[in-house]
Formats: sequence, structure tokens, C-alpha cells
Amino acid sequence: MTFLDKLPKPFFILAPMDDVTDTVFRQIIADLAPPDLYFSEFVNVDGLQSPGREKLIRKLHFTAKEKPIFAQLWGLKPENFYKTTKDIMAMGFDGVDLNMGCPVKTVIKNGACAALINNRELASEIIDATREAAGDFPVSVKTRVGLTTPDMSWIEFLLSKKLDLLSIHGRTAQQLSKVPADWDLIGKARQMRDSLCPATLIVGNGDVMTRVQGIELASKYKLDGIMIGRGVFHDPFVFAKNSSWEQWSEKQKIELFQKHIELFAKTWKQGEYKFDSLKKFCKLYLTGFEGASELREHFMATHSPKEALSLLAKQL
Ligand SMILES: Cc1cc2nc3c(=O)[nH]c(=O)nc-3n(C[C@H](O)[C@H](O)[C@H](O)COP(=O)(O)O)c2cc1C
Repeated sequence: MTFLDKLPKPFFILAPMDDVTDTVFRQIIADLAPPDLYFSEFVNVDGLQSPGREKLIRKLHFTAKEKPIFAQLWGLKPENFYKTTKDIMAMGFDGVDLNMGCPVKTVIKNGACAALINNRELASEIIDATREAAGDFPVSVKTRVGLTTPDMSWIEFLLSKKLDLLSIHGRTAQQLSKVPADWDLIGKARQMRDSLCPATLIVGNGDVMTRVQGIELASKYKLDGIMIGRGVFHDPFVFAKNSSWEQWSEKQKIELFQKHIELFAKTWKQGEYKFDSLKKFCKLYLTGFEGASELREHFMATHSPKEALSLLAKQL
């Protein structure tokens, strides 16, 4: 029994998105319409337990607003998962998630993340080392339904590891995001859970764009939770019961972008994060009003928070 069992059903999670869901964006979402649980961006344990730690530690930065929050880890060495789990418990995280789904070629080539789907021995050692460090602290895995083809024996294996939570993205790693997520497979995993490990909470992920859609899928497949990633780019109020985003004016959207950029500049020292990562947010804030596409173009040509803020100020 952990705090997860007390969450509403279905509960909603903001998906980890590297270079997107840093503490700054999570705070923006927290102020608008908070999910029930946050995940950090994925962070490499082998890097964290090396002199490269200083460069990576920013990914584990969070504030009291973004609670409860899991740290998402990836890597290869079980002993580094052990050490990092101890670290994140001391930092005040609420759980640890193991990334076993990232399909990026360079990552898979090294044998990490989704490659673990076909290396159960190492996957098992990583989960066991994490659990040994974690004790009763929640341990979860985020994964896909297979590496190149759907493989329910992978889900069966994960359910044998007595996880507190299992988030399943309904695509294989090979499919990247090119085909629609297969929720029937997530439903199958949910059925397997009942006989194999009733205590593991099952979270579905893939292509959910609204809260209502999430509730419908959770009800159809009897899931405990729903994870939403890219949906926040369409509606930052996606976790709210009633979203007012459609009614937001140009002025409100620009002011929200200004708040985001100001918080970014205040949070990160120069060089800690690339300014260009903010450009991803143009499609969220600078859309749905006259002149938006021209403004986006001008924004793409800016080089610093100061330049970006002055461009947006002129528009108001
Ligand atoms: C820009 C971007 C970065 C991502 N980074 C991560 C990550 O760090 N860890 C992870 O487990 N998944 C990552 N994902 C995958 C998402 O968490 C999620 O599984 C995927 O986008 C499908 O959900 P969605 O359709 O709701 O977006 C990323 C996805 C995107 C688009």
C-alpha cells in the first residue's frame, strides 16, 4: 500500500517528455490544471554516478508545486540504479520510474531502455537493484508493448516483478509514434494483471488528447490511470474537468508564454538549458489567433529569453 492507492480513479499522469517537461513547464501546468502525478524527464543513472553528474542533475530539479513526482531513470548498470534510487529518495521524490520504452536508436544500440524488452536478465537485475534500494518506496516501469512486435510475455515478465505501477504505451519501439496506439493490448495487460499481480496499478498511454477521452479509455479497459504527453501541446488545461483554453485570447496566451520564459530565465543559469528548447512551445502558446504564424516565425529567430520577451511585449 502506497500513496498511489489513494489517488482518484482513473488518475492522470503528465508523461515525461525530454526537453519539454522540465520543472519550468511542470510549474506552468501545475498552475493551470495539475495532473495527479508528475514524472521527471528521463535521466541517465550511469551519468549521474559519474563526474558528468553536474550536467544532469538539473533534470531532477522540482518544486513543491510539482508533487507528487516520480524521477524517471534509465541506464545500464544495476549498481547505479541502486545508488540513484537512494539519492532521489533523499531528494524528496515520491517514487522511481524505470524507462524501458525509449525507442531512440542510439539508446537502443547501447542496450538501454526499450532494448531491455529483449534482455530480461538485465531488466530483472535493474528492477531488483532499484527495489532493494527503494524498500517500500514506489517503483514503477514505463514501457511499450514490444520491441519490434507486440510481446505479451514482456508484460507477463514485468508483472512478475511486483511493481507498484506499470505504464504501458500502446506501441512497439519500432513503431515510434507512426501508427495509432493499440489500446486493446493495454487492455490485455490489464487483464493479465488481475491474475498475475493484482497490486500493480496499470496506466495506459498513447494519443490521449482530452480528459474525457482518457476517462472513456480507462472505463473501457478498466485501467487505474491514464498518462498524457503531447496532449498538453493542444490544451495545457488537459487535466482540468473543464478546459477554458478554447476561449483564451491572444493576450492571455502571450502573457502565459511570457510567464514561462521568465520562469525559465529565473530557474536555469546560462548554459544549463539551451534557449532553443523554448522554441518547442511556440506551437502551444502562439496559435489560434490572427498573425500567430508570423509571430512564431519571428520567435524562431530569437536567441535569448531577453530577445524573446521583447518580441512578445511588442505584440501586446
Ligand atoms: C518530445 C518528447 C520527449 C519524450 N521524452 C520521454 C522521456 O524522457 N521518457 C519517456 O518515458 N518517454 C518520453 N516520451 C514519450 C512520452 O512520455 C509518451 O509515452 C508518448 O509521447 C506517447 O504519449 P502521448 O501520445 O500522450 O504523447 C517523449 C515523447 C516526446 C514527444
